[in-house]
Amino acid sequence: MATVTIDGQQIEIPDELRLNAVQAAARAGIEVPHYCWHPGLSVAGSCRMCLIEAGSRDPQTGEISMIPKLVPGCQTPAKDGSVFVTNSEKVQHARAMVEEDLLLNHPIDCPICDKAGECLLQDYHFQYGQDERRADVRPFTSRRRDVGPTVTLFVDRCINCSRCVRFTREITGTAELMMVGRGSHTEIDVVPGFPLDNNLSGNVVDLCPVGALGDKDFLYKQRVWFMNRHAGVCTGCSTGCSIWTEENQDRVYRIKPRENLEVNKWWICNAGRYGYPHVHSDKRLLAPSRRKGDSTETVDWSSLATELDGRLREAGRLAAVLSPHLTVEEAYLLATYARQLDPEARLALGPVPVIGTDETFPGGFTIAAEKCPNRRGVEAVLEHFTGSVTTLEGLLDELENSTMGSIWVSAGYKSDWIDEPTAARLAKADLLVVQDMFASPLSERAGYVLPGAAFAERDGSYVNRHDRLQSAARAIRPPGGVRVEGGLYWRLLERDGLYDAPAVLQEMAATITQFAAAAGEIPEVGVDLKGNLLADGTTAGEATV
Ligand code: FES
Repeated sequence: MATVTIDGQQIEIPDELRLNAVQAAARAGIEVPHYCWHPGLSVAGSCRMCLIEAGSRDPQTGEISMIPKLVPGCQTPAKDGSVFVTNSEKVQHARAMVEEDLLLNHPIDCPICDKAGECLLQDYHFQYGQDERRADVRPFTSRRRDVGPTVTLFVDRCINCSRCVRFTREITGTAELMMVGRGSHTEIDVVPGFPLDNNLSGNVVDLCPVGALGDKDFLYKQRVWFMNRHAGVCTGCSTGCSIWTEENQDRVYRIKPRENLEVNKWWICNAGRYGYPHVHSDKRLLAPSRRKGDSTETVDWSSLATELDGRLREAGRLAAVLSPHLTVEEAYLLATYARQLDPEARLALGPVPVIGTDETFPGGFTIAAEKCPNRRGVEAVLEHFTGSVTTLEGLLDELENSTMGSIWVSAGYKSDWIDEPTAARLAKADLLVVQDMFASPLSERAGYVLPGAAFAERDGSYVNRHDRLQSAARAIRPPGGVRVEGGLYWRLLERDGLYDAPAVLQEMAATITQFAAAAGEIPEVGVDLKGNLLADGTTAGEATV
């Protein structure tokens, strides 16, 4: 254990942690401002915003000797006996000088800058800068450069921290960005003909501490202080990145990575970042409907649960298809309900979309080919109820030789997921109930079509491909006319009150071996279920996309 003194406060740092002075200070609750340093990138030590006083304590005498000059905290390791001073006059003067220098060339265009409200230059200037500008005010400049399909560069706002350049070299390995020119003429640029066009490119916007790199998807759509952010889980692939879903008045405007060293570190891919427009698509199903002859009629939610329950009981043998887009709580409730109606109910895993192969970057981030968030979680639920996992193809084979009174299919895919022949095979049952966000060949054949919720509208947990369970709360309310899947199952099971996903997970942790590790509060980084689940690869679903 290393003992480090920061502003007179002693903290203990476990030996296995190798921290610099910025990180050590953060553990003591002290902010050391920094621009160029980022925990996920190499140390550049170029901005000098993190200058502090440093020294060491003699272990024998306890005497402290300080280095005469200020040192960059990002480059200074916190070792046993280290002493750091982050609040002296000398340090404060150095910070003010760095701020003044950066603002010599930075346009003061905060009112029209997307970064305003979350800009480190703005925040640090108010906290550490001088009250007055001594230099002549320069004419406003706003050169804009298109550096790639997702990102635009406001050249004059750049403070040359080089985070974006290091990201493309160290994490994506694509090295599209570079610094050109010297001294105060240094700028970020791309080589002509080689734009910033990799599948993690959106991360450079998050990395940019000022408003130099703008996200074309988000640009000028929303002031950041109007948005609320909610901790969520990306449902775009089975990596299950931790995300922030940022919304204003039930409309999602931005998805950003949420730090989780166990899953995605500080990054998310572009597919996850920009993969939310379907949430607000005007093609979504917005009211439950019932087939009547060749047409359909809208059903009222208030009477639907009772009506459905009656029809399903009448129909006899039941099969349920559990989508890998359901949360584990929803899968559990649907399976519970199906087995309550029919103790022999057939349960199967919905189609698992697989596109191409996994894409792994030099920095370790992987975009999974499996484009659903919860195959492993739904498999664990199925294993609990049936002892094994049946795929949709397996269920369809069974249906060739047996009759099924009713089939309940949960879907929730954001793109085409089922073809006409498969839909026709499922529609052989007397009663077909389909829960989905969009119309499909299956919903066109269904007796009941129930509009389903999008990822941002659900509470619940997902188990990623490495068997890590993460929980998320809904970020927005579903559109009027849509009921969250879990809420409907809760109602069908005649449980009291409103759907309570955390309570369902605790019920599962107490009764299902596979989810025992999920007992208690789920930490932000999630919990590891490995060891309690079936070995992966034994139950893989079929690809349909
Ligand atoms: Fe330390 Fe930039 S953060 S020099």
